[in-house]
Amino acid sequence: MTARIVFRITVVALLVYLAVTQKCPASGRSESSIFGWMLRGHVYDTLLAELPFTCVFKCREDNRCQSFNWVISLLTCEFNNRTKEARPEDFIPNPERSYYPRDLKRVPLGSIQELPAETCDEIKRSEGHAISRKYWFSTLKSGTSVMAYCNMKTNDIDECSVSPSVCDINANCSNTRGSYYCTCKAGYTGDGKTCQVTDECSASPSVCDINTNCSNTRGSYYCTCKTGFTGDGKNCQDIDECSASPSVCDINANCSNTRGSYYCTCKPGFTGDGKKCQEMAVSWRRVTFKMAANNEITAIRRILPTECNSYIDLDEPGRYWSNNSGSVICDNYDPKFVNNKWYRFVGGAGRMMASYCIPKSTCSTHRSSWINGDHPTSLYTTLTTTVCMHWGSDCCERSYPVGITQCDGYYVYKLQKPTSCHESYCDVDECTAGTHDCHTSATCTNTKGSFACSCNPG
Ligand SMILES: *[C@@H]1O[C@H](CO)[C@@H](O)[C@H](O)[C@H]1NC(C)=O
Ligand SMILES: *[C@@H]1O[C@H](CO)[C@@H](O)[C@H](O)[C@H]1NC(C)=O
Ligand SMILES: *[C@@H]1O[C@H](CO)[C@@H](O)[C@H](O)[C@H]1NC(C)=O
Ligand SMILES: *[C@@H]1O[C@H](CO)[C@@H](O)[C@H](O)[C@H]1NC(C)=O
Ligand SMILES: *[C@@H]1O[C@H](CO)[C@@H](O)[C@H](O)[C@H]1NC(C)=O
Repeated sequence: MTARIVFRITVVALLVYLAVTQKCPASGRSESSIFGWMLRGHVYDTLLAELPFTCVFKCREDNRCQSFNWVISLLTCEFNNRTKEARPEDFIPNPERSYYPRDLKRVPLGSIQELPAETCDEIKRSEGHAISRKYWFSTLKSGTSVMAYCNMKTNDIDECSVSPSVCDINANCSNTRGSYYCTCKAGYTGDGKTCQVTDECSASPSVCDINTNCSNTRGSYYCTCKTGFTGDGKNCQDIDECSASPSVCDINANCSNTRGSYYCTCKPGFTGDGKKCQEMAVSWRRVTFKMAANNEITAIRRILPTECNSYIDLDEPGRYWSNNSGSVICDNYDPKFVNNKWYRFVGGAGRMMASYCIPKSTCSTHRSSWINGDHPTSLYTTLTTTVCMHWGSDCCERSYPVGITQCDGYYVYKLQKPTSCHESYCDVDECTAGTHDCHTSATCTNTKGSFACSCNPG
């Protein structure tokens, strides 16, 4: 197409355009195209068109269209979403183009979501006159247009009138002239655009006592004393577990208090975790022998419990359970009874105490003794249990602690001195007590101080 033809078309188009605009004058103001000028930087769409007339109608169909540039050489129109009044700085001379304002029903800038403004001033320039109210803006939230109040006197957008808020939901918004700021509400931390629940517990130094657990809550926090400490959470003191009664440890253990805790250690001669201690019946010792060939052998030798070698004999025949004929025995008078010493029944006195309630007034006394528990079942082990005294209708009218160690072939008893008369430690026969070790196909025969097994016929 030659420039001449283009020029003719342009002239025809212009005449048509003028005819159209004259028939329908836009809001009383007569506006017309301006040759050799364009609006720069506001093109949202383009269209190939033989005549600018086509673009006039196309512009009327789009709410965004505020004006268009007609590019004569390309027979193209460029639709603008601004007017030259809104952006006078972008209205520039251009020999290739002509500027056409929208002729009919131009949508006021900022009045609809598809046509957001950037500033209050821009609206005022675009519309000539504008009242203070809410308008649509593209500059307050990225990628979307939102409504905000425009003060046309101060040209200030009240960003805080935007809903949802431009600040975090847990922030206060404060408008300033030309800007705004966000402040996180009490109990929240952040820049205001984002606010998080303040975690007082992560503060350093800690807001709570060193001996506490800190628990964060919404807007606050609380402190609770750690396990092993006591107090109100602000001040927590160590609990002395060792002063508790009854003791937190075994009676045969030492208790040691520590900060926030305690530990128990079995006393010498006892073994266990401290909460429970057992008397050590057997100890083991590493010994080194020097051999003739000059090589050394290390062996482990068993050391007998000392009570198996060192005890006091109870040899009075009257202690035997069925002997009721002799004089009345009272162990309270007997100087050989000292608390916590070890004793063994020997000779006519028998071998061991019964593990069941024996009749009162047996074994030459009134209160007769029996073990309310078991004898140890393995060699060189010790049990701590109770010895009962049978009197009246009570099998255990009074009782004492007793330790029993199984030695090789006999038992030794750690006894307490009885507190009154007449009571004494009694023996019974193994066959009755059921503590014999005869075979199931054998008969147990009680003998004085011992028992005998004989195989049943067959
Ligand atoms: C208006 O035009 C400018 C410039 O081309 C463009 O960046 C912007 O997205 C347009 N606005 C709308 C709402 O289409
Ligand atoms: C936030 O606003 C409320 C109500 O207006 C006020 O009570 C509070 O003190 C403000 N908080 C901050 C951190 O500005
Ligand atoms: C303190 O915190 C510890 C570790 O989180 C926990 O094991 C303990 O139970 C807490 N103690 C109290 C009293 O809350
Ligand atoms: C237990 O305590 C006693 C006296 O307080 C002390 O002599 C002994 O060494 C302690 N034993 C242990 C195992 O701590
Ligand atoms: C019964 O005990 C007395 C002494 O208390 C003693 O002299 C007597 O021999 C005992 N009898 C028997 C059968 O062991």
